[in-house]
Amino acid sequence: MRRFVGDESMKKDIFLQVEKNIDALVDNCVDWTEGAAAKDLQDAREGRLRLKFFEKNIPQEWLGDIRGKKVLCLAGAGGLQAPLLACAGAEVTVVDLSGKMLEKDREVAALENLQIELVKGNMCDLSMFTDGCFDCIINPPSFMYVPEPAVVFGECFRVLKQGGSFIMMAPSPVNYMCDYIEDENGGYYKAVHEIPFCSKEHDDSDWIEYGHSMETYLGGMLAAGFVIDGYMECQLEDITELYFMVKGEKTTK
Ligand SMILES: C[S@@+](CC[C@H](N)C(=O)[O-])C[C@H]1O[C@@H](n2cnc3c(N)ncnc32)[C@H](O)[C@@H]1O
Repeated sequence: MRRFVGDESMKKDIFLQVEKNIDALVDNCVDWTEGAAAKDLQDAREGRLRLKFFEKNIPQEWLGDIRGKKVLCLAGAGGLQAPLLACAGAEVTVVDLSGKMLEKDREVAALENLQIELVKGNMCDLSMFTDGCFDCIINPPSFMYVPEPAVVFGECFRVLKQGGSFIMMAPSPVNYMCDYIEDENGGYYKAVHEIPFCSKEHDDSDWIEYGHSMETYLGGMLAAGFVIDGYMECQLEDITELYFMVKGEKTTK
């Protein structure tokens, strides 16, 4: 399997660039920086929590009763999932690389009078947390900004309690395999890129994005110790925009 490796300073540069890129998206109001709607926050307070990644609701049975649970919103800033979880009675911590995304949670928390712990940090290094301190980790799509998902899976397993769950969504490899070819009939997609994919190998822009294999994702979760007990897919408008959602359970110490 081809892997992305590099020394520590190179990785630091990657994360600094990703932070700049995400902050710029927030400045440009990209749609996933929209915070939770007032109605959804009220519903969550009244016991009707609906939590979604893009258009896909996380099944209620995956979440269970989160009242009083310690939940880590990993790479999950943006004023959406964390305030909803806090309204539903969870004790929420958010870790995110982007100060501007965290600011969105700070704004909603202030408006809604919610206690949410906000940590500016990297999902690859959760050393600020002790072993077994969370009941649940909610991780919206973010692995496309991480060169080595295995590191994150290991950290998530460590900071979860035994019996805790890890719910994540990520782009499936097809997002990165194809280029759009224009032609007189309106164009088509052609599979041209190998997985793993790194955008830096294909363009000179400052954008950094990784396409990982399903082996890296599902095999990586299993290797970290998770039992996978939930899997769903989410097809967005464009045919190559396929995302998957997985639930991993920490059944052992
Ligand atoms: C697509 S957004 C997800 C958040 C959004 N609330 C949602 O529902 O989709 C991806 C998030 O991952 C964060 N992120 C990317 N790389 C990260 C890293 N290495 N560590 C922590 N957060 C990271 C970004 O700053 C961004 O807030």
